[in-house]
Amino acid sequence: MGVTKAVIPAAGLGTRFLPVTKALPKEMFPICNKPIIQYCIEEAINSGIEDILIITGRGKWSIVDYYDRSPELEAHLAKKGNYLQLEKLRQLSRMANIHYIRQNEPLGLGHAVYCAKSFIGQNPFAVLLGDDIIKSDIPAIKQLMEVSEGTGSNVIGVQEVSERDVSKYGIIDPLHNDHDIYCVKDLVEKPSLKDAPSRLAIMGRYILNPSIFSSLEKIPKGAGGEFQLTDALKMQIKLEPIYACNLKGIRYDAGDKLGFLMATIEYALESPEIGLEFAQYLDTLYEKRKNMRIPFI
Ligand code: UTP
Repeated sequence: MGVTKAVIPAAGLGTRFLPVTKALPKEMFPICNKPIIQYCIEEAINSGIEDILIITGRGKWSIVDYYDRSPELEAHLAKKGNYLQLEKLRQLSRMANIHYIRQNEPLGLGHAVYCAKSFIGQNPFAVLLGDDIIKSDIPAIKQLMEVSEGTGSNVIGVQEVSERDVSKYGIIDPLHNDHDIYCVKDLVEKPSLKDAPSRLAIMGRYILNPSIFSSLEKIPKGAGGEFQLTDALKMQIKLEPIYACNLKGIRYDAGDKLGFLMATIEYALESPEIGLEFAQYLDTLYEKRKNMRIPFI
């Protein structure tokens, strides 16, 4: 059976974006006029996912509100005759079957995924990290599904990162490479450059078999004092093959200030509504800074 369920962990504290994340969930930061998590939801739906479980936590109510109906706003738009906006708003709450479970303490990504155990059942499922955006022709999670359908195995999305960035990610030790698909020999969470087995970093997209839950139950706390999904996958390698797929597309870590700004600029430039004006503004800004000899640090 194909993958029809997805889990989007969105209960993290967002410490890289403090102080704003003290009151606002980073998954709800807007890239143009859509929240970051919406890009993940659309990716899942465009890949054929029917049921999506969002892992929420304290202070994340705005995510639930966003996908709920909004009778007052709908009545207001209907009264004003703004039927286009009204339909767009209604579509949001009909997009997919969205479910929620609360992670009562942010104990790490591994723990967040474990919270989905009762929702998942017996079939493979997708995991999309709620602060990672992947801009691609074929939705990133669909790329992984194609590998998982062919192999019946767990599949991880990876991309090569610079030496400087290796210590920020889970890194795979690839056994061999066949058309951008690697058999994974080992995984290390946030290694130093000298301990990193490669520069192939895990990019927030996974297709997992439900057998992962028994490893998630056993792992001790790992890097950063958190229960790490990477550690459960490492345990799982001893029991079943894990593949990694080199994702085609541009990935933005929108939970990080720089990644968020890059995604904002890219999507704004492509917006039919504001793209042209925004590009002209960037040109002007660039020229101004160049003439004033303000360094682009
Ligand atoms: P991150 O490590 O990027 O999120 O987790 P974080 O912990 O919120 O970020 P920083 O490092 O403190 O800035 C990746 C995804 O997993 C979720 C996050 O919400 C994010 O979407 N997550 C993380 C959980 O759902 N629960 C957790 O305990 C940790």
